[in-house]
Amino acid sequence: MKTLLSDEAAQAAAAEPAGEVLLVRGGRPLRGRVTVTGAKNLATKAMVASLLGDSPSTLRDVPQISDVRVVRSLLEVHGVKVTDGAEPGSLVLDPTDAVSAHMEEIDAHAGASRIPILFCGPLLHLLGEAFIPDLGGCRIGDRPINFHLDALRQFGAVVEKLPTGIRLSAPEGLHGANIELPYPSVGATEQVLLTAVRAAGVTELRGAAIEPEIMDLIAVLQKMGAIISYEPNRVILIEGVDALTGYDHRCIFDRNEAASWASAALATDGDIFVEGAKQQEMLTFLNIYRKAGGWFDVREDGIQFRRGGPLKPVIVETDVHPGFMTDWQQPLIVALTQAEGESVVHETVYENRFGFTDALNKMGASIVVHRDGLDAPYRRVPRRALEQAAVVTGPTPLHGADVVVPDLRGGYSHLIAALAADGESTVRGVGILSRGYEKLFTKLSALGADFDIVG
Ligand code: EPU
Repeated sequence: MKTLLSDEAAQAAAAEPAGEVLLVRGGRPLRGRVTVTGAKNLATKAMVASLLGDSPSTLRDVPQISDVRVVRSLLEVHGVKVTDGAEPGSLVLDPTDAVSAHMEEIDAHAGASRIPILFCGPLLHLLGEAFIPDLGGCRIGDRPINFHLDALRQFGAVVEKLPTGIRLSAPEGLHGANIELPYPSVGATEQVLLTAVRAAGVTELRGAAIEPEIMDLIAVLQKMGAIISYEPNRVILIEGVDALTGYDHRCIFDRNEAASWASAALATDGDIFVEGAKQQEMLTFLNIYRKAGGWFDVREDGIQFRRGGPLKPVIVETDVHPGFMTDWQQPLIVALTQAEGESVVHETVYENRFGFTDALNKMGASIVVHRDGLDAPYRRVPRRALEQAAVVTGPTPLHGADVVVPDLRGGYSHLIAALAADGESTVRGVGILSRGYEKLFTKLSALGADFDIVG
């Protein structure tokens, strides 16, 4: 595989120590200031969008996380020249020499991330064909790609499943389509946007996801020359155009990172100012935060978070935007173990996102995961015989334990539980956290966390 980092980026990344196993000495509140990065869930998609332009793009506030490195490397495999921009944290992506890549090189990225699926539309427009390796990402459910493939077929793509991945071709080019998503999937909405902007004719997408990161991707595409309008009731209209140019764009802030730090302040009884966090994109989170006994102060340059008194139990249902994000529940649950009474967290986006609670129970929490969540009419994920609702009874003192990180958000929650707990914890497999949190160890140290990298 090619080198994932340029010299400059490698030096910057080197400032963050690497490690898989942490020895955490808990019981210390996290206090201080952190700066939130650009959103993982926008940056990677905007990088893919650069393939659609006929001139270089500049993306600013790109987080230094492994998902970004995987996409960078895949773009390079396809002949896109990626260099660090003059502004720290910016990338220049030049697609003018993009070429068809060798399958072995693409295959080297198999299982590394879910973003490669979004290369389909741009590569079909550019090269008439695409090969997408088996996808990775967090193991939090089945994570099928049927919505993506159905939509691509409606645009006129021919999809062939191979043992190692998926080959797509568009012998007659791609045309606009009328697409209705069965569920407002973030990825499938992005797939449609990235494909429709250059397809011949108009595309009407119904049942679209409307997350702020998707609106930011629409802004990127509009800068490139796309014509996209957003109608009420999750309808997006895209008028295909013949050519797009490069863009210059600053990534929206990472709402998930901001919410993670907010919950860390709550769980450890600390006080954290999250520079760069904005209120509008976090309204739903802030409501629940307040109901759970959290206090926040929205300022010009960020939001300060801490407890406002004793923590209170809440009932939360994860949902697509503008609901409470599925990525926000894991760190919040750590705080809810310290609330007086019974909290209920319904997970309606993924069918298997409570695996991380086992480790919290090992640390003294009382969390029971029930297979049945909300009644069927309210559930966006069809009923499956899997976990759906977590009942958290508190307060229960947390104590140190030896735990293994299961996935990105669950792993973050293990880390803050260890920081909140009395005594020492060993947290294994923390490397996965670099998928979504830039310079996590550096930021934790700056907030006063007491830990050593021991493996
Ligand atoms: N789904 C299908 N078929 C599809 C696509 C999705 O059944 O073809 C189902 C999924 O299995 C899931 C639900 O639809 O049950 C939602 O999936 P969605 O497509 O919305 O999620 P995604 O695009 O794969 C992104 C984020 C996730 C975030 C979700 C929901 C990226 C790279 N990932 O995933 O982020 O949880 O949207 O907001 O943008 C994370 O940051 O840790 C993370 C997992």
